[in-house]
Amino acid sequence: MSAVTDPVPVFQRMAVIGLGLIGGSLAAAVRRGRLAETVVACDRRYEDAVLGQQLGVIDEAAQSIAEAVSGADLVVVAVPVRATESVLEQIKPHLSAHAVLTDVGSTKASFVAAVEAVFGELGPNIIPGHPIAGSEKSGVTASNPDLFAHHKVILTPAESADPDKLAKLTRLWEGCDATVLTMSVAYHDEVLAATSHLPHLIAFSLVDTLAGEDQNMDIFRYAAGGFRDFTRIAASDPVMWHDIFLSNREAVLRVIDHFSRDLDQLRTAIADQDSTTLLKVFSRAKAAREHFSKMLSGQAYVTDMSQNQVTFHLKPGGRMTGDIRVPGDKSISHRSIMLGALADGVTEVNGFLEGEDSLATLQAFRDMGVTIEGPDSGHVRIHGVGIDGLQAPRGPLYLGNSGTAMRLFTGLLAAQPFDSELTGDESLSKRPMGRVADPLRAMGAVIETGEAGRPPLKIRGGQSLTGIRYEMPVASAQVKSCLLLAGLYAEGATSVTEPAPTRDHTERMLEGFGYHVHRSGATASVSGGGRLTATAIDVPADISSAAFFLVAASIAQDSDLTLRHVGMNPTRVGVINILRLMGADIEIANERDIGGEPVADLRVRSANLKGIDIPEDQVPLAIDEFPVLFIAAACAEGETILRGAEELRVKESDRIQVMADGLAAIGVQTTVTPDGIVITGGQTMVGGTVDSHGDHRIAMSFAVASLRAEGEIEVTDCANVATSFPGFVELAQSTGIQIVAEGI
Ligand code: S3P
Repeated sequence: MSAVTDPVPVFQRMAVIGLGLIGGSLAAAVRRGRLAETVVACDRRYEDAVLGQQLGVIDEAAQSIAEAVSGADLVVVAVPVRATESVLEQIKPHLSAHAVLTDVGSTKASFVAAVEAVFGELGPNIIPGHPIAGSEKSGVTASNPDLFAHHKVILTPAESADPDKLAKLTRLWEGCDATVLTMSVAYHDEVLAATSHLPHLIAFSLVDTLAGEDQNMDIFRYAAGGFRDFTRIAASDPVMWHDIFLSNREAVLRVIDHFSRDLDQLRTAIADQDSTTLLKVFSRAKAAREHFSKMLSGQAYVTDMSQNQVTFHLKPGGRMTGDIRVPGDKSISHRSIMLGALADGVTEVNGFLEGEDSLATLQAFRDMGVTIEGPDSGHVRIHGVGIDGLQAPRGPLYLGNSGTAMRLFTGLLAAQPFDSELTGDESLSKRPMGRVADPLRAMGAVIETGEAGRPPLKIRGGQSLTGIRYEMPVASAQVKSCLLLAGLYAEGATSVTEPAPTRDHTERMLEGFGYHVHRSGATASVSGGGRLTATAIDVPADISSAAFFLVAASIAQDSDLTLRHVGMNPTRVGVINILRLMGADIEIANERDIGGEPVADLRVRSANLKGIDIPEDQVPLAIDEFPVLFIAAACAEGETILRGAEELRVKESDRIQVMADGLAAIGVQTTVTPDGIVITGGQTMVGGTVDSHGDHRIAMSFAVASLRAEGEIEVTDCANVATSFPGFVELAQSTGIQIVAEGI
């Protein structure tokens, strides 16, 4: 049995100057976690320090700042921000040379100014801090050791900060279960002015206004939940907030001016009965709030998706049965929003994919002034603004994981009168964008890429573009679509020739919106200067999502599964062609055409697959389906060889290597080549842990593999499955995959 040891404290003696809600809560958390040997505090009101000691919040109550600071190796200033300078003056003579000095104030420039006034400079041991946590309660009696748990703490160290001291302070906050972020002082103050200071100001002001109305008693008596929720923070400490506003004056004034302008705009809209503006602002705000709630998952302020860790646990075996419809096609969903937004009139979309990638596109258009209602069970109404009606977004457009959104937007935005910036998540930030930036530059666009041609992209507006003839070096529907979208605005004709057929949804949909695309062999061309007319779009089920079930029902014994309304565009059916060559039993029924795109119902039954040499002309037609086709190959008899697929290395992950590593992790050896892979089928899948590298299609492929595994499979980093296939886990469960997702 191992001995239980006490954690080694990070600091010997922590002195808290000011024992209010934040100081008291930090003291309590540090004591509970034994993060400091001794916690001493002083307060302007000595009785409060004594009370803190009685409550067990601190070890010792000091009578003065001098007494508290002497011998301390960590001093935390937790007083209202305007009192900082005089407190620092009292601290200075007693502060030991090696002690770390930090604070918890809501504005950071003011703390740095006070330090400079007292110490001359921000020395290496002085590290400003700000826990993003609080409550409308105040005083030592409100101390709560859990106040910082699952909250952010922002540290704003100078470049000269001592890295060891920074590491210790970080450990202290992490010991309080907080997540520590670092950023510059100026950025902190801007962000907080908008996300914290302005809402507090509005709450104070609103309650004050209503309390001043004649009927105020009645107003408060009848105030409903909305009023209570919205104004809770107006009960916060007035002195503290008075100090915050005066200390962060410039940044707060900027955001108040912005808000006042927007409020005025709403006032005018109501006065003028301008329902378009009201609907636009409200639906944009509702969507933004939902987006944030999801991203923030219950936490205050800043966080990122990478913290939502999702793991799939899969039991081996199972058979696939049922009659299902997978969600809408991702490529078509993106394009429906884009063309709908640029059209004249209202476009109705049904079957829209409510996945994070296509929602990022939808949100970006809202940010550019387009009113979009929904999505509501796959139904979206887009109030088109016309080809020249987009407005400058207020900030960078964040496109999450979506390569399609980023590449298509680049073409579209290169032709707008305003500047724009495109950013994405970690995976998207590694993907090549030179392939769109270079030909767009040849058209006259001005685009700045990040390092090695990667995001972020800064696009300069106001350029006039000229059509080009472009021979694509790689077969890419995204590059083709990007150039065709830019071509809508360019002078003359823009034509794109592809080395092999790629998905042609853009061409088909442009025709559907009444914009002629000239197609001849491998070349598609548009002439600039036309307009789009709103239409109705019925998005078929995504064949790329259906692919997981096609393989699953083929490899699992005794399976019989029907997939409805699957998109059967000839540029997308590579997966069916390849599986059939491998001997899969896929029956195609009910073939029909829906709004310019062919669809069909597919019935799949178990089959003994055999390995094949995958024809290279099928590669672009099955480009997204290779991860799951590798699973089919691993279950087939004999060898499957893939060549000419180097594109797979620059998808959401390096799909050749990540699949090879994942297969190895469950017991299947493969041979990786620069442009493909060789997989010998029939090896035992013993099970194991697979890292999906945040790639949705890798994660779902290994869920399918479990049907033929002999042991359990665990797949990590699966949160991005929501980018293309919301509801995957439930649908997989209901058809026969023994999957449980943890962490959603
Ligand atoms: C897509 C095109 C393909 C595909 C991607 C979606 C599209 O990318 O991999 O998932 O919607 O145009 P490339 O065009 O880069 O091959």
